[in-house]
This record gives sequence, structure tokens and C-alpha cells, in this order.
Amino acid sequence: MQTDTPPSLAAFWMPFTDNRAFKREPRMLGAASGMYYRTLGGQPVLDATAGLWCVNAGHGRKHITDAIRKQAEVLDFAPTFQLGHPKAFELAERLASIMPPGLDHVFFTNSGSEAADTALKMALAYQRARGQAGRMRLIGRERGYHGTNFGGTAVGGIGGNRRAFGAQIWGVDHLGHTYRETDAFTRGQPVTNEDMAGELERLIALHGAETIAAVIVEPVAGSTGVLIPPRGYLQQLRDITRRHGIVLIFDEVITGFGRLGAATAAEAFGVTPDILTCAKGLTNGAVPMGAVVANRAIHDAVVADAEAPGIEFFHGYTYSGHPLAAAAGIAALEVYANDALFARSADLASAWEEAIHGLVSAPGVRDIRTIGLVAGIELESRKDAPGRRALEIFHRCFDEGMLIRVTGDIIALSPPLIVEVDQIVEIRDRLARTIAAVG
Ligand SMILES: Cc1ncc(COP(=O)(O)O)c(C=O)c1O
Repeated sequence: MQTDTPPSLAAFWMPFTDNRAFKREPRMLGAASGMYYRTLGGQPVLDATAGLWCVNAGHGRKHITDAIRKQAEVLDFAPTFQLGHPKAFELAERLASIMPPGLDHVFFTNSGSEAADTALKMALAYQRARGQAGRMRLIGRERGYHGTNFGGTAVGGIGGNRRAFGAQIWGVDHLGHTYRETDAFTRGQPVTNEDMAGELERLIALHGAETIAAVIVEPVAGSTGVLIPPRGYLQQLRDITRRHGIVLIFDEVITGFGRLGAATAAEAFGVTPDILTCAKGLTNGAVPMGAVVANRAIHDAVVADAEAPGIEFFHGYTYSGHPLAAAAGIAALEVYANDALFARSADLASAWEEAIHGLVSAPGVRDIRTIGLVAGIELESRKDAPGRRALEIFHRCFDEGMLIRVTGDIIALSPPLIVEVDQIVEIRDRLARTIAAVG
């Protein structure tokens, strides 16, 4: 039953979408609650991806929507340039309190992309403030994704995201990605004898540490298909960057807020960066918001020890710390704590791993990767049609009532942390049927 009249589709230029195909055959969402979306026609759709990796506490959480509504009635907007409002300060305190020790200053943005670019600029400003203005280079990683602003696009390692836009910002280089086919079907972190992080030493030898400001990586690369770092890799990056005075940034836009069974991947892996970015789950996806959390040395070099009086960091957004986003963020952190969702994610991880690895015998599956409540299922590509098979699976899953995510021929799963064990089994079984049917 149609509950709403669909609007004309012409004007909306959709992001990361095959616009022509979508508008020929639109798939529209109309509502969401708990583990389910509903299409505009009212069909339930089991959400196996938490929206876009963001609705970690499930959809339509009353505590969060009430907080947003109440805040809108009291203070709809307040600038945070030279003024403040209590909710932004409260959220910053609460967020800092769940970060690894030492990460205690929070800068608000409106998205993960803005958080990535803010973190890169913060690293540059820090190096300059401590007398190292020659450190201008930024190092990312192949198959990394840090959003779509200029900095994030440049340090990102996805060819398709970069190619159309010509030369990017100056002085960027990339580490190799950490995926090895020989590790296929590993559960959790692969063990390797290869010195992957040692490649950073090679880049340092090539460019000189005195030219490098920062290294940015996702602890687990999400958007390019759930690439899990081998054991010891992140710690090694930490050791090398520390030794050479390079700022280490973890982009935790996907891995933050319980995805890996802890507040952050930094906590889950026991490796603390100098700067950590987050977004998505920060408000449970309910209001756009990102954040950059810096350690005290970085904050103090730029802010507390600034020589000139006045504004210390010439950067910010009209909506940094927006009242509705701040209210949603506080409420989301309360839901995560009250429902112990990070621990729940950790508890469910082995059931998740067991279920998803059950897809090993589905036709055309060439790898399955799992960690926390995330999975990447890599399929053989069809000859001359890369990405086609996964896209057909995506469409068919949706039409039959389940939302998954695909990138190339890799299926990515990341359900809300409220998922039940029988829903995990349902996700696996639906996927097995659809993979077999699409062939
Ligand atoms: C690791 C990472 N960084 C940054 C972003 C960009 O976030 P946004 O789309 O909110 O700009 C994403 C989005 O998926 C992401 O996964």
C-alpha cells in the first residue's frame, strides 16, 4: 500500500549513485524502527548495514528523538564562534570520557569528511606551532577512505574517487593496503610475517621525516570492503610515527561507537593515535555530526601555548557543535551506555563470525572477513563486468526485504548492535539464498 505520493525524482542529484539507473527503477525508504526500514510501499527491510554504518543503536530510538525535539524547542541554533551553548560542551566532555586516555580535546564538524580534513589541518597546525613548519606532507593508504573533501580525497586510496578531479593537494603519498589474498577466510586479524608497516620507514627515508606531518589510516578499512590489519601492524605504525615526530590519525568514522566491541578501535586494538576522527554513530545517524578528538600535546601546542593572542586555530564550521546534533550525541552516548551496546557487540562477535563464515560454500565466494560486528564477503567478479554480481545481489536482497552494502564485488555487513542472534542467522540465510539465486 502506497502511503505517500512519490515526488518527482529529477532535481535531486544523488551522491555515490548511478542516478540514471536509480531514477529508472527507484527504491525508496519511508520509515524505520529498530532493526527494520520500511519501503515507501510499507514492505519491511531488515537493516544489515545500520543505514550506512551509522545507526548503531537501531532506528528511531525514542531517547534520541525526544532529545532532538526538546532541543529544537529550546534553542534551535547557536553560533559557536566566540559564543557557546551548554550542550556542545557537555557532549565534548562525554565523548572525551569514552576515548582512550590522553585523547581529551574535541573539535566538532558535521560529517566524517569534514572530520578528516579538520584532522589533517590540525596536524599541520600542530607541526607549525612546534616549530616544524617544513612538515607539510600527508600520508594515507591505498584503499583508504576518508570522505570526499579535498584533503580526504587526496589521502584516500580509491582511484575512482580521485580520477575525475585531477591533481589533488600537494605532497601526499600512500602506504600500500594491508589486504593479502593468501589470508582469505581468516577470522579476525591475520597473522603475518610481512613487514607491512615497515613501508612507512621507506617513505620516511624517501621524503625525510622533517617533511611529513601526519599519517592517516582507518584501523579497519571499511568502505573498500572490510580490510582487517594484520596483528601488530597498527602498533608498529604507532611506534614508527612516534619515533619520527609524525602525527598518527585514526579515522574511526566506521569503527567508532561499538562496531569492534569497544568505544573505539583504538581501545579494541590497544593502540592510541594522536588524533581520532569519528562521525556516523556519534548521533546514531540521527543528526549529521562529526568530531575530531586530539591529545593534549596537540591541543596545547596550537591553543594553550599560542604566542599571539586571539583565535588560535583558523578553522571551523557554522554548525560545529550544532544544538540539535549535540543533543542527539549526548542522547546517543546515553543509549549506548544504558544498553551496554559496546559490550553487547563484543559478546555477539563470535556468533556473528560463526554465522557469516557459514557462507564459505556459497557459489563464487572467494573470501570472508569478519571482526567485531562487521563482515566483508568478497565474490568472484563476472568476466568483463566487475561489480555487477554484487549489485544484482544488493538489488535482489533489498527487493526481498534486506539491506546490505556492496563495493565492487564485495558485500559489507554491519548490523545495528541491537541485532539478535536469530536475526544474524536470518541475515546469513537470506544472503546465502540470494547469492545462489543470482549466480
Ligand atoms: C572511514 C571514513 N571516513 C570518512 C567518511 C566520510 O564520512 P561522511 O560521509 O560523513 O562525510 C566515511 C564514510 O563512510 C568513512 O567510512
